[in-house]
Amino acid sequence: MMAASIHVDASRKGVKISRNLYGHFSEHLGRCIYGGVFVGENSPIPNNAGMRTDVVEALKRLRLPVLRWPGGCFADECHWQDGIGPKESRRRMVNTNWGGVVEDNSFGTHEFLELCRQIGCEPYINANVGSGTVQEMAEWVEYLNSDGDSTIAQRRWANGRREPFGVRFWGVGNENWGCGGNMDPDFYADQYRRYQTFCRNYGGNRLFRIACGPNGDDWQWTETVMKKAGSYMDALTMHYYTVPCGNWQKKGQATEFTPEVYVDTLERANRIGAIMDTHLAVMDRYDSEHRVGLIVDEWGTWYDVEPGTNPGFLYQQNTMRDAMVAALTLNLFNRRADRLVMCNIAQLVNVLQSVILTDGEKMLLTPTYHVFDLYKAHMDASLLDCTVFSDALSGELRQVTASASEKDGVVTVTAANLDAEHPVEVLLQVEGCEKARAEARILTGEAHAHNTFEQPENVTVQPFTAIRKTERGLVLTLPACSVIAVSLRD
Ligand code: AHR
Repeated sequence: MMAASIHVDASRKGVKISRNLYGHFSEHLGRCIYGGVFVGENSPIPNNAGMRTDVVEALKRLRLPVLRWPGGCFADECHWQDGIGPKESRRRMVNTNWGGVVEDNSFGTHEFLELCRQIGCEPYINANVGSGTVQEMAEWVEYLNSDGDSTIAQRRWANGRREPFGVRFWGVGNENWGCGGNMDPDFYADQYRRYQTFCRNYGGNRLFRIACGPNGDDWQWTETVMKKAGSYMDALTMHYYTVPCGNWQKKGQATEFTPEVYVDTLERANRIGAIMDTHLAVMDRYDSEHRVGLIVDEWGTWYDVEPGTNPGFLYQQNTMRDAMVAALTLNLFNRRADRLVMCNIAQLVNVLQSVILTDGEKMLLTPTYHVFDLYKAHMDASLLDCTVFSDALSGELRQVTASASEKDGVVTVTAANLDAEHPVEVLLQVEGCEKARAEARILTGEAHAHNTFEQPENVTVQPFTAIRKTERGLVLTLPACSVIAVSLRD
């Protein structure tokens, strides 16, 4: 059997892993908002103020920390005033980015903030630079956060909310190098400086200003935006999608892939580590004190849509391959917790690498959901030094990936065996931790395994007890294609 070892140093606590690295993204795209989270108050599907009770409860179990909205490409076509006030008089528009369907704006600002309230997460609003005005953006902030008696604030009161919402996370445009206006970085940097100037702080609330960052490895974008606008932002974003074979025409379906494409997918997912590092190195040139954080506010797998579904809805299934991508990526995020301030998987429900899929009143939790569940102990925990010795699976990709943290006296180690064919015996050594009890939970299955509405529990987390205590450390065998969370406590 193949062998690997994981060495964790629990004697020195590192930086705090922000809970926001476990954030999510919800766009007016396909059935993410409508049908996925929002069904309206009159729906026969159980709901609270229109929000699906089953979905909200599942997200609460994940302790979802932050939710980005309303896009994505939709953000730069979204005009917030269309989504407030009586629903029957809200403006109807065509969602030109996503399927050309009519968007009736029945889910707007108040509904989004109600969703966040029900989940117990913080909102991250991405505002419109591409087709909006400075005044429009400034007034959205005022509408949300003003504690004064202005006409704009009075509109909020009239719509049922007297207290300011106190929204902090504020995105100034999305993918402005593409669907957000096809801008070049110089132009965007100037626009960013101008728009953010008028996004005011109200009362005690301090906006956390987020600038649109690069697509993947576009270092030039980062360089220019940091140089011209770095001192006006709190964070810069980046987007990175895992597209099998790196070819939009040949990316294939979520549930049908060869062993070669499986490995290719993970190799591409793994590249996010080096891409983040390089963007951070570029950022350092203009921000040696590390005041500006990095946010990966769109990441995940992107395949062909499920057969027979609207190509503009980006609905895809989710298998153990996606679970491996999630496990690998979240370990990489933990390891850069020194500079990452938020990450948002794309997207929450029914779009791309979702944690939840719905079909009418039915709902299922995907393998990716279960990875977030296994990793949730890392949120707001202290990062621990974690070294992995493991064979290469392909190129830079190792067979075993891991990260570790400590919170409230509990050490958590998350690890995955990315190899779809071979188990691996792992020696887990945790220095500086004489914990008596090790508990573990595992998610495993054949690489194509997934949950369906007929078999929603085909892939689920199971207790894992086969851990041997030896003089050298704990020894456990990770099955092929598996992800485990081990917790050590007294
Ligand atoms: O997540 C789907 C789309 O991918 C988003 O709308 C856009 O920002 C990105 O290109």
